[in-house]
Amino acid sequence: MKTLLSLGTLALLGLNLQPAFAGTAADSYNLVEKGRYLAVLGDCTACHTVPGQAPFSGGVAIETPFGKLVGANITPDPETGLGRWSFEDFLAVMSTGHSRGGKRLYGAMPFTAYTKVRREDNLALWAYLQTLQPVHNPVETNQLPFPFSVRTSLIGWNWLNFTQGEFVPAPDKSAQWNRGAYLVEGLGHCGTCHTPKNLIGGDDNDHFLAGANLQGWVAPDITANSHSGIGQWSTEDLVQYLKTGANRFDIASGPMAEAVENSTQHWTDEDLLAVAVYLKDGAAGKASPAPVAATDAAMVAGKAIYADRCSACHVSSGAGVKNLFPTLAAAPLVNNDDPTSLIRVVLAGSRAGGTDAAPTTPAMPSFAWNLSDDNIADVLTYVRNTWGNAAAPVTTSQVADLRKELAQ
Ligand code: HEC
Ligand code: HEC
Ligand code: HEC
Repeated sequence: MKTLLSLGTLALLGLNLQPAFAGTAADSYNLVEKGRYLAVLGDCTACHTVPGQAPFSGGVAIETPFGKLVGANITPDPETGLGRWSFEDFLAVMSTGHSRGGKRLYGAMPFTAYTKVRREDNLALWAYLQTLQPVHNPVETNQLPFPFSVRTSLIGWNWLNFTQGEFVPAPDKSAQWNRGAYLVEGLGHCGTCHTPKNLIGGDDNDHFLAGANLQGWVAPDITANSHSGIGQWSTEDLVQYLKTGANRFDIASGPMAEAVENSTQHWTDEDLLAVAVYLKDGAAGKASPAPVAATDAAMVAGKAIYADRCSACHVSSGAGVKNLFPTLAAAPLVNNDDPTSLIRVVLAGSRAGGTDAAPTTPAMPSFAWNLSDDNIADVLTYVRNTWGNAAAPVTTSQVADLRKELAQ
């Protein structure tokens, strides 16, 4: 027997599931299993489960530029979780960002993406959440400093940043493309990290997926732009990256490594392929700028510094070493209009996987102490304009500014 749900659980699920799901126990089993998978697609765990603690009992701290928010307890505990909620209460959170009783939620709960989730998928998610072990764990989600802690300040925020409504399929696209769009724009909430933010922390949707600075990390451009985005990746490259966290171009670190671990590695191949098809189909975007000439003084100086300080790891062709040293040739991050993250990596160094990485993981050394601002500007100008790359030169003052900022 596959049916795991008792009649008691069914009664619990009853609520608004009538009459569409008034069917058999097998129907509700399928509904719960579907919901379980949808929770993986949405990576609810990332913000609602502290590793090692009861699933979805809340307490994960989320750093934002404005301060700290904490993921809520979403187990069916009546006092501290969603035990007294109806499906309509849950639906309101997902589609409008209003919590039970009308309280406005912060965008750290990615309802600006989840609003696209279809009602039938929300029914399944809700059915699944109802089967969780109730855990008594009071969580104060709002730990922002004043004035950001005032939820009424969100009225203006929502008005500026938020378009409510379920996903509308594009009639001129394939079912596969539309599935990919539904996942990326909706439950997958890829834009939460990959879309640049405006001054008040909302998504700048004119530049959807064009890359953003997170707290100490850069989520690169993942549009189909062949220059700054993933245009040179095949659909297989994308699927492999999302499935395993690495491919011939890059190794996922930091928040993306976590997203792969909790979420995308568990997606079906069909769904990953749909995502790849959708991402690859975006507008090819702006034309590549012409590379800086190899005879330019900065390029000549940069070439010598590269040979001396960088080529031991990234090799002279810029291709890196598979699974050890990332390629700098045809790398979206390297071609990004904004060189901030490149300058940061060279000044501060970096270790794939963040501070939790095994000490044996190869690291990118810091060059803050032995390369001048001029040196770093030159070597990065060279890296950004060699091996098929082309991007604006890096200036000495850009390096000097970031050096000052990092010193604080
Ligand atoms: C990126 C982090 C993040 C992800 C991913 C996330 N949440 Fe949340 N969620 C939050 C935060 C933070 C809050 C509290 C926001 C607030 O208090 O304004 C919250 C609040 C909620 C609430 C409201 C709880 C209450 O008591 O008001 C529900 C329900 C919820 N989340 C469900 C989900 C589900 C279901 C998923 C997956 C589909 C999910 N969340 C994914 C961060 C996240
Ligand atoms: C929690 C934030 C976060 C979320 C959510 C997220 N990403 Fe990422 N992503 C990142 C970061 C940070 C990187 C850069 C990782 C690195 O430098 O190794 C990245 C890297 C990538 C890359 C590699 C790009 C390159 O040029 O190397 C791809 C592809 C990607 N993400 C796709 C996705 C897709 C598709 C989704 C949604 C299903 C998604 N990401 C959701 C933060 C995120
Ligand atoms: C000892 C080996 C080593 C040397 C020398 C080295 N790097 Fe790195 N570099 C790495 C490793 C390892 C990473 C990956 C770190 C990570 O993902 O956190 C990296 C990452 C980078 C990145 C980010 C690439 C990406 O797509 O995430 C850039 C840019 C970079 N290095 C440039 C340079 C430059 C310029 C020099 C010379 C001034 C240099 N590196 C010298 C090992 C090295």
